[in-house]
Amino acid sequence: MTYAPYRDPSLPVEQRVADLLARLTLEEKAGQLTQYFYFAQTVEIPEGFDLSTLPPEHLAYVTQPRQVEAALDAGAAGSLLFVSDAATANRLQRRALDGGRHGIPLMFGFDVIHGLRTVFPVPIAQAASWDPDAIEAGQRVAAREARAAGIHWAFAPMIDIARDPRWGRIIEGAGEDPVLGGAVAAAQVRGFQGAGTAGVGAESILAGPKHFAGYGAALGGRDYDDSDISDSELWNLYLPPFKAAIDAGAANIMSAYMDLNGVPASGNRWLLTDVLRDAFGFDGFVVSDANAVRSLETQHFARDLTDAAARAVDAGLDMEMCMFDPAFSRLPQAVADGLVSEAVLDEAVRRVLAAKFRLGLFENPWADEDAAAAVLGAAAHRDLARVAAEKSLVLLKNGPSTGSPSTSSPSTSSGTGTGTGNLLPLDPDTLGSVAVIGQLAASKRDILGPWVFDHDTAEAVSILEGLRARLGDGVRVTHADGAGIPARVFASMFDRMDPTVVNTPDDYDDEAAIAAAVDLAAASDVAIVVVGQRQNQIGENASSATLELPGRQLEQLQRVVETGTPVVLVVMSGRPLDLRWADAHVPAILQAWYPGTKGGDAVASALVGDVSPAGRLPFTWPRHVGQVPMVYNHYRTFQPEAQHQRYWEEESTPLYPFGHGLGYATFTYAGLRLDRPSIAVGDTAAVSVEVTNASDRAADEVVQLYVHQRYGTSTRPVRELKGFRRITLAAGETRTVTFELGPDQLRYWSAVPRDWVQDATGVDVWVGGSSAAKLGTVLEVTA
Ligand code: NOJ
Repeated sequence: MTYAPYRDPSLPVEQRVADLLARLTLEEKAGQLTQYFYFAQTVEIPEGFDLSTLPPEHLAYVTQPRQVEAALDAGAAGSLLFVSDAATANRLQRRALDGGRHGIPLMFGFDVIHGLRTVFPVPIAQAASWDPDAIEAGQRVAAREARAAGIHWAFAPMIDIARDPRWGRIIEGAGEDPVLGGAVAAAQVRGFQGAGTAGVGAESILAGPKHFAGYGAALGGRDYDDSDISDSELWNLYLPPFKAAIDAGAANIMSAYMDLNGVPASGNRWLLTDVLRDAFGFDGFVVSDANAVRSLETQHFARDLTDAAARAVDAGLDMEMCMFDPAFSRLPQAVADGLVSEAVLDEAVRRVLAAKFRLGLFENPWADEDAAAAVLGAAAHRDLARVAAEKSLVLLKNGPSTGSPSTSSPSTSSGTGTGTGNLLPLDPDTLGSVAVIGQLAASKRDILGPWVFDHDTAEAVSILEGLRARLGDGVRVTHADGAGIPARVFASMFDRMDPTVVNTPDDYDDEAAIAAAVDLAAASDVAIVVVGQRQNQIGENASSATLELPGRQLEQLQRVVETGTPVVLVVMSGRPLDLRWADAHVPAILQAWYPGTKGGDAVASALVGDVSPAGRLPFTWPRHVGQVPMVYNHYRTFQPEAQHQRYWEEESTPLYPFGHGLGYATFTYAGLRLDRPSIAVGDTAAVSVEVTNASDRAADEVVQLYVHQRYGTSTRPVRELKGFRRITLAAGETRTVTFELGPDQLRYWSAVPRDWVQDATGVDVWVGGSSAAKLGTVLEVTA
C-alpha cells in the first residue's frame, strides 16, 4: 500500500481529514454523510423466492438490509445504526472497508439510553436521583458495554425539557427544569465519553444529546407535533441543557423532527448554525433524527428530496439518519444544480471524518468478539444498576397505617412501621404475610422500561421477586395479578422487536382477577399494590391523552383499601399519574419509575428501610390532566393570592411540588445566611445553610436552592432552581452546605433587549428540601 497521509496516525486529525477529503468524489462525500438503519435479517429468504409476491410495504422491509449491504459495497454509507452485536458489526465493517476505494471505516450508532444489557432506571428516574455522579457512573457502564458490542456512539442523552407529562418522551429526559436538566445532561456526556476524552477511550463512546431543540414542547404533548416556543423560553429553559452538554464536550447533536416556530428543526439554520455553532461553539457533527431530512418534504417545507438534502446541509445538519432512499444521495445533484455549495458539503464531511479519526477507527475498526460476552452484563454492572435504582425512588407519601378510612378493620398494625408511626418502612421481623397485587408487580419486562433492545428479560428482578428475596421464608408473600392493564389502542412499533413484551390479552377476566386480588389483600397483614402504565405506554410514539391509571386499577385500589389491610402503593410510570384518590386514602406511596434490571431488589430495599428513599421529583406532579402544563417555575401574575383558585372545580396547585420526596429520616434546616447582604451585578455571593439529620439513622437529603427576582427588565418565575446537592448525613449529623449565587445563576435572556441581562434588583433566596422550601433571605444586587 502506498503511503497516504490520512492513514498516518502520527499526523494531526485536521491534516488526515484534509488529505482524505481531497480524495473523495461528490458521491463518496454524500455516502459519508449517510447513516442507514440495519436490522439483521431474522428470517432467511429461501433461494429462488419470488420477492414480487410480497406486498410492497413488506417487500421494502425485507429487502432493506440488502440495500444497505449494496450501499456498503459501493462505498455509499458512512454509518449504520441498530447493530449491537460485535460479530455483525465486524461483518458489515469488512464490507464497508472492502467496498469503498479508501477503506473508510463505518461508525456504528445505537440508542443506548439507560444501559445496554445491564438496564439502569429510565432517564427520568435517574434524574430523580438528583445525583450527577451516580448518573455519570451509570452511563460509563452503558458505554463500556456498548463499546464491547461494537457501538461507537449513543443517541443519548435526551435532554429535552418536558413540561407536559402527556408527552411520552418525558421519560427519556430530566423533566421540567433547566438547571437540573443541565447537570444531568453534562453528567451523561461525561459518562458516555469519559471526562475529557471525547469518546476516544477504549471503553468510551460518543454522546449525542438530542433533540435539538424544543421537541419537548410538542403541542398537546403529542409526539412529533409542532412546537411554538417564545425566544425567552427557548434561551432560558429549552436550550440551557444543550449548552451544558456541549460544554461537557458532547461530540454529536441530533436534530429534532418538529417545526420550531414554523421552521422544521432539521432544516433550521438559525438553530443548527446561529445557536448551535455560533452561540454555543459546538464543533462536533449533527445527525438528523430518523428520516427527518426526508420529512422536510413531508412537512411541506422542502420542494422535493433534493431540496430537502440541500437545505438540511446548508442549515448545518451533517449526517442523515434514514431507513430507505436517503435524501442525501441527491447531494451531488444539489451541488450540480447550485442548491448548495461543495464547500458546505465539505465542512459536513470534515466533521464526520474527524469523529472517525478521533475514535481511532482507522487504526482499529474492529469489535473484540471474544471479549464482548464478559463485559456485557458483568455482575459489577448490575450492582451499580441496583444502587442507581435505589437512589431514584421517590417516596411521595408516608403516614400512619391507621390513617386510611377503613370500614372494618381486621388488620393488625404489627409488622408495619419501625417505631416512627408511619406505615413505611415495613418491618420484616414482625410481618406475617404480604399480598403483592398488580400485573406490573410480577412483570420482568415492564420493570426494565422502554428504550431497551439488548436486555435479557430473564435477568430482570421483578418487584415480586425482589420482595420474596428480601423478606425470606419467614414472611408469606403471595401475588395476584388483579386489574388488567388494557393494551394500547394501536400497537407500539417497538413491541415487535422484543418477544418478551407483555400485553394483557383481550379475554382477560378483570372481574375475577380483581376479586381474587381483594380477597388476597383482606387475608394479609399488608398489601403492596403496584399500579401504573406498561412500558410500552410511555416513550416514543406513546403519548397519553389522560393521566388516569389505565383500566380498573383505581377501582381495585379502592376495594383493597376498603378491606382495612394497610396499603402501600407502588407506582410504576415515567410520568405523573392521577393519584388524587390515593393521596387522600392510602398511607404510603412510592414512585418506582421503571427501575431497571435490579429494580425489584431496589424497591424491596426501600420498602423495608435498608435504604431511605431520597429521590426527588424532577417535575411538578399535577392533580389532574386538565391542569397540564403545570410547572413550579411559572410567573407571578395578577392576583397571585388566588393562584390556587384558577379552576372553579379543582385546586390549581400541584398534588406534589417539584423537588418533593420523603425519606425515613427528618432533616432540619437552620442558619441560612449570605456571606454579604449585597453584591454588585457580576459579583458572586455565597449562600450557606446548616442541614441536620435529626433522626437516628443515616440517610440522604437533596438540598435545593431557589431564587426569585423581585423586579427587573423582564418578569421572572416565582421560583427557579439555582443549585442542589445530594448529601448523606449520619444520624444526628449537621453539615454546612454552601452554594454560589453569581452571574451564572442570576442572568437571564430578556425579550426587552433581546439579549442576556443581569438586573440590579432584590433576589429572594430559599434553601430547603423541595421547591416549597420556606427558609429564606434576600440578596440585594446593586448596579
Ligand atoms: C427516533 C427517535 O426520535 C430518536 O430519539 C432515536 O434516536 C432514533 N429514532 C433512532 O432510533
